[in-house]
Amino acid sequence: YTITVDPAAAGTPISDSLYGVFFEDINFAADGGLYAELVRNRSFEFGPADNRSYSPLTGWTPTADAGGVGVASTADDAARLHERNRTYLRLDLDNPGGGRYGVTNAGFTTGIALRAGGAYDFSVWARTDAAAGTPLTVTLHDAAGQPLAAPLTRAVRGDRWTRYTGTLKATRSTDAGRLSVRAGGTGVLRLDMVSLFPHDTFRERPNGLRRDLAEKIAALRPGFVRFPGGCLVNTGSMSGYDAASNWPRARSYQWKDTVGPVETRATNANFWGYNQSYGLGYYEYFQFAEDIGAMPLPVVPALVTGCGQNQATADEALLQRHIADTLDLIEFANGPASSTWGRLRASMGHPRPFGLTHLAVGNEENLPDAYFANFQRFRAAIEAAHPGITVIGNSGPDDAGATFDRLWQLNRDAGVDMVDEHYYNSPAWFLQNTTRYDSYDRAGPKVFLGEYASQGNKLANSLAEASYLTGLERNADVVRMASYAPLLANVDNVQWRPDLIWFDNDESWGSTSYQVQKLFMNNVGDRTVPSRVTGPSTAPTPITGGIGLSTWATSATYDDVRVTTPDGTVLFADDFSAGADAWTPLANRGSWSVVDGAYTQSDTGAQDTLVRAADVTASDYDLTLRARKNAG
Ligand code: AHR
Repeated sequence: YTITVDPAAAGTPISDSLYGVFFEDINFAADGGLYAELVRNRSFEFGPADNRSYSPLTGWTPTADAGGVGVASTADDAARLHERNRTYLRLDLDNPGGGRYGVTNAGFTTGIALRAGGAYDFSVWARTDAAAGTPLTVTLHDAAGQPLAAPLTRAVRGDRWTRYTGTLKATRSTDAGRLSVRAGGTGVLRLDMVSLFPHDTFRERPNGLRRDLAEKIAALRPGFVRFPGGCLVNTGSMSGYDAASNWPRARSYQWKDTVGPVETRATNANFWGYNQSYGLGYYEYFQFAEDIGAMPLPVVPALVTGCGQNQATADEALLQRHIADTLDLIEFANGPASSTWGRLRASMGHPRPFGLTHLAVGNEENLPDAYFANFQRFRAAIEAAHPGITVIGNSGPDDAGATFDRLWQLNRDAGVDMVDEHYYNSPAWFLQNTTRYDSYDRAGPKVFLGEYASQGNKLANSLAEASYLTGLERNADVVRMASYAPLLANVDNVQWRPDLIWFDNDESWGSTSYQVQKLFMNNVGDRTVPSRVTGPSTAPTPITGGIGLSTWATSATYDDVRVTTPDGTVLFADDFSAGADAWTPLANRGSWSVVDGAYTQSDTGAQDTLVRAADVTASDYDLTLRARKNAG
């Protein structure tokens, strides 16, 4: 092959913020992930609204030592710590002659990770009705009860909520530690916000981030951080407000729920099926973006839910409130410390503005006209009050066909500055579509490629992505920002794959796609240099259909599916058994195809297109697909 370059030619300028990251609390990316809190369900707010299997004591087990006696329960009553932190732990103690009773927390997934010699900051809010006070003992230990730190003791005094703190020093390393909080004496002890943080957070910030994960993200040197979602921002978008408490569960993601002292923050049902504590909230997102030199890029819900929910709010007051809240968000980020929301930012430790310049409204919207009507309301209000802010529109998921086209047309006709596009496709698609943006209208809205990934976490995927990124750079006059998605995944709690960075309780590692992102982000050019490749054709010959495609019964369930080459090499197999790596059984699947080594399963549902890349690089195989029809 011959590559001809013309270094003197002008080429397309590339902005420093072309490449960024998209953080969403999916796959335990926040609680149990980037947010360094080690105690799961620290505020006893878990409940069936988050996940049917949850209760306020999820993560906790009542335990005793030295013959301690008591009853552990939770309460949501007038004695609560805060109106938005409603439920607390109640211990009815009965230990007049000694012994301690309390609860043990098992941390996230496999337990609490501790490093020998590391310092761990403990805190709890407590009140007691025992006139003489209540002795509290805090211990770190393994599952068998063997100590992992010298115990911490505190005397709780008075029946007013008070914060007690202390530091525990780990004597051994483990990824399966336990934290116990037990009390002696008699009477009623109330506890809330039982918290344990490694002292060694990223930049040693209090209420901070897990160092190894934050450092891996920082090492990318991203130009921007898109947050907090994704479908996450559409959680319960249609929920109104309970007049009495102003706090129904499962309401949409609202930034005001996530700021201020952590003990006053709400928790909420997370779109991905668990509880989100909001300990990692808007202040922390802005601070993290600043710490790593990236532009903050929040996404607010448009009150027309995408992500397969397909509803538009009919509640005008709710819409107006969200628009007003968005203006307040801009004041929180950019207002002087003397302004209402700038004052809150300053009180949290950041008097200087964060310098917000871009904000997106909506995510993967499926109702184009209803969405766009709301978007225009947000946009008009923001542009009137803050003309310097770029308001980013949405184009729905790329595979939504007519919806995508309609949204693009609406954005184009209204002269929107920038439009958010998303797509998750096979590596073959990425290889074959590097020219996607060559034909985009240079006079139309710019593109924010807010989410993309080739489906798989193998070298072939990352090479396809690298190839695709050269197409983005060549079109950097149109494509202004791009972020791979999702960013983080806890191996013990996966809702979505592939992912850029994987982790468990005490380790993390980048995928090959991470290495590609790092390579491109750390070497963003000033401009492209026009080039031309000549040589034999490299176009792959796609294999389509032909392997049982038309014989799938749409209502049957299959298991033990495999694709083999004539020599018996298994390119792909899955027994669909339960577990993190299993696909949902093949009931009601629409069509299957193999395209140039990528194994593609399509579904009629909006969220369920799954593609796995097989370990093949050549394009023309004689493949056999075998599927055993499940007896059930
Ligand atoms: O990145 C994972 C999900 O993919 C996002 O939440 C959503 O926007 C998209 O469907």
